[in-house]
This record gives sequence, C-alpha cells and structure tokens, in this order.
Amino acid sequence: MIADMQYDQSGQLRHFLTIEGLAWETLVHILDTAQSFITFGEREIKKVPILRGKTVVNLFFENSTRTRTTFEIAAKRLSADVINLNPSRLSTSKGESVLDTVKNLEAMHTDLFVVRDAHSGAAFLIAQHVPPHVAIINAGDGRHAHPTQAMLDMFTIRQYKKDFGNLRVAIVGDILHSRVARSQIHALNILGVPEVRVIAPKTLLPTEVERLGVQPYTDMRKGLKDVDVIMMLRLQLERMQGTLIASEQEYFNLYGLTEDKVALAKPDALVMHPGPINRGLEIASEVADGPHSVILDQVTNGIAVRMSIMAIVMGGQSERKAS
Ligand code: CP
Repeated sequence: MIADMQYDQSGQLRHFLTIEGLAWETLVHILDTAQSFITFGEREIKKVPILRGKTVVNLFFENSTRTRTTFEIAAKRLSADVINLNPSRLSTSKGESVLDTVKNLEAMHTDLFVVRDAHSGAAFLIAQHVPPHVAIINAGDGRHAHPTQAMLDMFTIRQYKKDFGNLRVAIVGDILHSRVARSQIHALNILGVPEVRVIAPKTLLPTEVERLGVQPYTDMRKGLKDVDVIMMLRLQLERMQGTLIASEQEYFNLYGLTEDKVALAKPDALVMHPGPINRGLEIASEVADGPHSVILDQVTNGIAVRMSIMAIVMGGQSERKAS
C-alpha cells in the first residue's frame, strides 16, 4: 500500500518512502540516473540546474553524519536552495506536532522534505498529509526502512559486480533492528539477486525471516562461504530491549568480521557497511580499512544516488512505472 502511494496516477515516482513494492524499472532508472551524476564531484563546476528555484528542507529528528550531509551536497549540486533544520531548535521541542511543523514549512513553499525520524512510518505519515506538488523522501524511519541507503548500496554493488543476476550476498549482524537490512533485502530481491543470506544470532533475526526471501544462518563461517558481497550491520544497541547478546566480546568472536572470515568468501568479495562502524564490535579495523572494503565508496556514491532520487521525485528525470 505504501508503494502504491509512491507513484502518481501516471506512474511517476513522487515520494520515495520504501523499496518494498517498487518496480524493477524504477530501481534501475534510479541507478542509471545516478550513474549520469557520478562524475560531477570531479568537475570544476559541480552543479546542474535541475532543481533550480526549488526548496529542499532536511528534517532530521535523529542524528546523522552520512545521510544528512550527502543529501545537502546532492541538493546543492542540483542547484536547489537547502535548509537544514536542527531538531533541538524546532518548535516540536515546545510541543508542536511534526505534522504542524511540516505544514508551516510547507507554507514557506518547500518543495521537497527529506525526513529522518526514530518512529517507523513517520515519512509515510507526512507523505499522506502533503499536497501533490510536495515530495517526501524517507532518510530512515525507526526500524522500518532506509531506502536511499539501500539504493546507494545497490549502486556500489553494480559498480563492482556489473550484474545482479549471479550474485550470492550475505547481510550480517543485527537484522532484527535494522531498517537498512530490510531495505537492502527488498532491493536485492527486486533486482534479481538469486541468493540473499542473513547471518546473525537467533536473538537478532526476525521471526520467519525466510518470508522476506532470504536464507538465515546462525553460523557466520557457513554463511560467508563463497559469497560475492558481505554487507555488515551495526549492532543497534539503542534499539535493543533486554539482553540479546551475551557480551560484546562474544559477539565479536562469533559475528565480527575478521580477515580469516573474509577469506571464506570469494577472493574478490566486497565488504560493505552503511556506517557508522564500530571497530572491534562488528568489524575488525584491518577489514574496514582493507582491500575488500568499499565502505567509503558507498559514502561517495550516496551523493549521486541521492541526486538521482531527488531529481526523479521532483520530475526532473522522468520515469514511468512499468504497466
Ligand atoms: N548510514 C547512515 O544512515 O549513516 P548516518 O546515520 O550517519 O546517516
């Protein structure tokens, strides 16, 4: 149902809230459009006028380094006017609802809101209450979705592996609390990756996780065997209720990515992580900084991918849902 409200009646993407339910054509169009933006960072003049005259508001009610900054850079490269709001200075801290805050910002002729919130469904709720000319992009909502992160991850995989159709991908870590994992799984399935594995202790796997189209493993060494891509996740300690891991040391011993575990994957395997990384907890420093790591490529690619998504939802790069 959320996916339906992401497209307008003519099949044009008007919000970007979740990967779930999006068409293969939409994901490929986002990746291809991002590809056309990828060299902009190396140009002397890093701007195109696609969003000239448009106003973008970054509304982040949760902390962020990568997502907020790359959205700001992306919007500026598209020539939009960008406003970054600091939640602690907003009137929500005086009791104003988020929807009223958005209505007031809308009255200032905002065209696009980029929203991060600790509550699952926040961006969806806002999208239901804005007029048709205003677009919403979800920059992470609770445990639900982080769709732009998943798209920059897909872009990075395609950059190195070219074809999704013969890959074996493992997502490792706190699957239960991870909005990134949920979005990655949907994207990998839509793009036709034949084998997606999730690796975690039982306590950090959602019940009936197989229904998401993945193969669960609790033994990391078995799960990493011959994979092409290892996507690590942060332990979301702030979202855990109760004790779900015995100790951080034991977690690292069993599920931390070390050089000997990377050696179980294919020799040209990619190591990815959405960040922030916790060295020595889910990933060893030698791996995070090692030859398989594309972690900083993911960050760089986030600019082109977010340019692509903003341009598409604002109608600057036409796209139609397959009928
Ligand atoms: N990957 C990610 O969402 O990082 P930030 O929290 O720094 O935006």
